[in-house]
Amino acid sequence: MKPSSGDVQPGGAAPFSAHTAVVRWKTVRLSVAFFGVILGLLVLYNSAINPFNILPVSYSYRAFRSYSSLRNPLLEKTLTKASNEDKTVILTTLNAAWAEPESLLDLFLKSFHAGNGTQRLLKHLVIVCLDAKAYQRCGASHPHCYQLDTEGANFSGEAYFMTADYLKMMWRRIQFLTSVLEMGFSFVFTDSDIMWLQDPFNHFHPDADFQIACDTFKGSSEDLNNRPNGGFVYVKSNTKTIRFYKFWYESRTMFPGRHDQDVLNKIKHSPLIPEIGLKIRFLDTANFGGFCQMGRDFTKVCTVHANCCVGLNNKVHDLRILLNDWSKFVNHKASSRPSWSVPQDCRTSFQRGRQSKHGKKKGG
Ligand SMILES: *[C@@H]1O[C@H](CO)[C@@H](O)[C@H](O)[C@H]1NC(C)=O
Ligand SMILES: *[C@@H]1O[C@H](CO)[C@@H](O)[C@H](O)[C@H]1NC(C)=O
Repeated sequence: MKPSSGDVQPGGAAPFSAHTAVVRWKTVRLSVAFFGVILGLLVLYNSAINPFNILPVSYSYRAFRSYSSLRNPLLEKTLTKASNEDKTVILTTLNAAWAEPESLLDLFLKSFHAGNGTQRLLKHLVIVCLDAKAYQRCGASHPHCYQLDTEGANFSGEAYFMTADYLKMMWRRIQFLTSVLEMGFSFVFTDSDIMWLQDPFNHFHPDADFQIACDTFKGSSEDLNNRPNGGFVYVKSNTKTIRFYKFWYESRTMFPGRHDQDVLNKIKHSPLIPEIGLKIRFLDTANFGGFCQMGRDFTKVCTVHANCCVGLNNKVHDLRILLNDWSKFVNHKASSRPSWSVPQDCRTSFQRGRQSKHGKKKGG
């Protein structure tokens, strides 16, 4: 998730004509309907021969046997050291580009120190490094680092939003998080372009299995029309969530070229979710906000994501200003009704990114 798992093109920046939008919407509806039929058939097929499993063995399990049965003592040891009494850890992923000095890793760690009640959470944070250089940088600034190897992949550069590397990296993350759940660890996964300003554990829904932040929140935590952002999730380890993550990962083959978040937006409507019994909740942007939709009340803000933003430099620029706004607030140097002075560079990053994308991969 390095680069910007959460980043979704802001509506205003997408110059689709009304006609294109209608056609696109129809296509989406058709593909959702088609997907629903396929799922229905799978469930029927399965319940005929295998009534106690929701998915055919071949569909949900075979593909995973290879990695889920691999024991990983080093990962287990790292997670055990970092976990709290509830076997819960905080996880983020990091690559070399984001680990550069004065870049996102530094800002991410700094936010825990600047935040209210967040410093003590650092001992539960495991930084999952996607390359050797990130691992080296992590070791210099944090006690719990883990290097995740992916055969044949090189994730060390700034994988620009929606390139092939970016997609590979996002899906590798879903696969990795599945294995964490299988080891019995619950987790808060956070992108490292999210600033932690207050303790999120005070604002989670106690009864949910899977809770996820949103780019835009529509007012109800149970409304499936919320636009979830995979950059921040709290997932409890249980059989429901393990099944759900496997289903999510497998569903990528039905939507080629899509990232985990797009696919989540499709499968969130799947009849399989009530079948599994998975309880999903969407987190309010008032507490878990971002540049797409900022939490306005500083006393309620837990995390702020540099979403609706592409380009490492844009994120770093705006997050630095955000931390400055926050520190004025906690040091009582802000006005009685403080407001954010961001997004700035992030606001125009999609347009500028498009212009420079062809010339230079690391646009933005
Ligand atoms: C990975 O990519 C980076 C640039 O993005 C390059 O500097 C590095 O040499 C590559 N590593 C390998 C092992 O190919
Ligand atoms: C910090 O958190 C405590 C406990 O949640 C709260 O009472 C206090 O008002 C917070 N401080 C600020 C500056 O928000």
